[in-house]
Amino acid sequence: MTWTRKHLLDLQSLSAGEILEVLDTARHFKAVGERKIKKVPALRGKTVVNLFVEPSTRTRISFELAEHRLSADFINFTAEASSLKKGESLKDTAKNLEALNADFIVIRHQAAGAPHFLARVLNAHVINAGDGAHEHPTQGLLDLFTIREKKGSFEGLRVTILGDILYSRVARSDIWGLQKLGAHVTLCGPPTLVPRTFEELGCRVVHDLEAAIEDADVINLLRIQHERQRRSRFPGLAEYTALFGINRERLAGTKPDAIIMHPGPINRGVEVDSEVADGERSVILEQVTNGLAVRMAVLYLVNGGRLPADEAA
Ligand code: CP
Repeated sequence: MTWTRKHLLDLQSLSAGEILEVLDTARHFKAVGERKIKKVPALRGKTVVNLFVEPSTRTRISFELAEHRLSADFINFTAEASSLKKGESLKDTAKNLEALNADFIVIRHQAAGAPHFLARVLNAHVINAGDGAHEHPTQGLLDLFTIREKKGSFEGLRVTILGDILYSRVARSDIWGLQKLGAHVTLCGPPTLVPRTFEELGCRVVHDLEAAIEDADVINLLRIQHERQRRSRFPGLAEYTALFGINRERLAGTKPDAIIMHPGPINRGVEVDSEVADGERSVILEQVTNGLAVRMAVLYLVNGGRLPADEAA
């Protein structure tokens, strides 16, 4: 396998082989993170700008830590304190960052397609850290990494994604990645948030929770995204929780080895109660840990890195 892409913009355009190359490289970096000396010189002399125009905790911090571990210089762009507030365009902002020798732009933006646009107008490497409701490729990759660690392989695996699919960039990246690797994807939630049009992507769409989770190997819960819903898609949070919230009773109706995932941030007591989120079937914090290794792998690969043959899987 040989990675040749300059950017990471989405999972839709990646092949199964490219996805597996990221996961294998991330496995190497996870092992590096367990050594006494966790830092490697792979990006020494390179400058990364983390251009986060939308809020983030997990993605921004793990990109920062990944850049630090790879010995890059990095700058965190704060939208609120920038000239975006004075009306400067995204293109001009990014061009100015490039004029300051940014080699990588890691961008989170509320507009779907913003990373693809920057990739067309910049010479720098562009990494999508989440664009509107379109894709969140590094979240998709860390979800895949975590599933492979827990389940071994993807072929024939049953993965249910539950909740706000319509507005979820995580769902879209997970759907592309899981299906390319041979998993069966079921989507579940209220019909207003999980329309049947998703069947065109090859997913099973189910509006009955019990039917969606009873045979699942992996249950991935998504956050209700108030900030992207232009009007309420269901009567209220209490009704959503009554119909689709995961609690101990509902978990009892799943396979005993089914794992619970959530990309965060969690609305505790809405899509999942704390007993399940913090319980032994939950891998939510392992997802966060794995995100660091996955983001190191992505930065390393788009920079043209290759694992030594004896370290590649
Ligand atoms: N999962 C995720 O993207 O979380 P943040 O918004 O905190 O980065």
